[in-house]
Amino acid sequence: MNLNTISDNEIKKADWYYSIELRPGVFTKGAKHPNVALTRELLSGLKATGTSCLDIGAQEALISTILAKKGAESVTAVCAQNYPDGEQRINWVKQAHGVSFDYHPCVLLEDLQTAMTQQEKYYFDIVVFSGILYHLINPLGDLIRARSMVRSGGILLIETAAIISDEMALFLNANERFSPGGGNIFMISIPALDYLLRTVWLQPIDCVYHSFRKTRCRIAVTCRAVDAPLPLEGDGWMDKFNFMLPRRLSDFRDWRALKTDRAPLEYHTSNTLKWHRKINAVNLLETVQKTAPLQIRPSMVRLELGAVA
Ligand SMILES: C[S@@+](CC[C@H](N)C(=O)[O-])C[C@H]1O[C@@H](n2cnc3c(N)ncnc32)[C@H](O)[C@@H]1O
Repeated sequence: MNLNTISDNEIKKADWYYSIELRPGVFTKGAKHPNVALTRELLSGLKATGTSCLDIGAQEALISTILAKKGAESVTAVCAQNYPDGEQRINWVKQAHGVSFDYHPCVLLEDLQTAMTQQEKYYFDIVVFSGILYHLINPLGDLIRARSMVRSGGILLIETAAIISDEMALFLNANERFSPGGGNIFMISIPALDYLLRTVWLQPIDCVYHSFRKTRCRIAVTCRAVDAPLPLEGDGWMDKFNFMLPRRLSDFRDWRALKTDRAPLEYHTSNTLKWHRKINAVNLLETVQKTAPLQIRPSMVRLELGAVA
């Protein structure tokens, strides 16, 4: 069905994941997920012109659309689900917002590398991994899979639910103690997120958060893909873990293959941050504990026709 042939009422009535403006003043009836505001805030620091981008878990492609509007040369959207009218929705979003990108439903993280290789896409300048980590049965393995899609010097932007605690832990959502729904599995503590990102050769360079309980938050982190793990002084585990990695994950990609001659992607941070000074990486827990949360405006949780980031 063509977007021009459906009525305003049909657009407003259908249940969507996102609230997206498809016609001036006419929005789909999606929820206004606060997490997407965090991802967008960090995307605004990115110069995406001419880049190749991958949006993992795209749903109705709000983030993919923003990447395309920011001038990306190519955007690939993948989603684990295959909604009956998914392609049609995506086409409406593309038509309304005047963008183009590839959309692939039914792609789980464990199949991502194979699916992208079939498209002759081996790595990307920008990978967005937003709202997914806590849905995963194998969070570290799948974080590595997402990491293996970004070229050296590129950017991986991760957003997730997290627990504000000093513990280095993955907390099981037993008895729905943190979040309702069987799809919410492990909630990562902020120090564990900080540590695992640096273990898998990602340097956190920007961060925003939104807390909704004293001990829980949503956090988004911009990470630069670097050529080695980033341990703090005296920590030998990251190197040992990386040495073991190829044997542990048979589909692990050799990250040396992600090295390119291309310059590191430009990124501009305007947020107040706390740092692990010696390694020049954001200290995520200290940033959450000592800086202000992001103020979320209505325009950040829905996609307006005029939006550019
Ligand atoms: C909460 S939505 C997040 C949507 C979007 N990325 C955002 O931040 O607004 C969760 C997404 O996780 C994806 N997902 C869940 N399990 C997955 C898996 N094993 N592999 C790939 N994607 C998965 C789903 O496809 C869904 O799009």
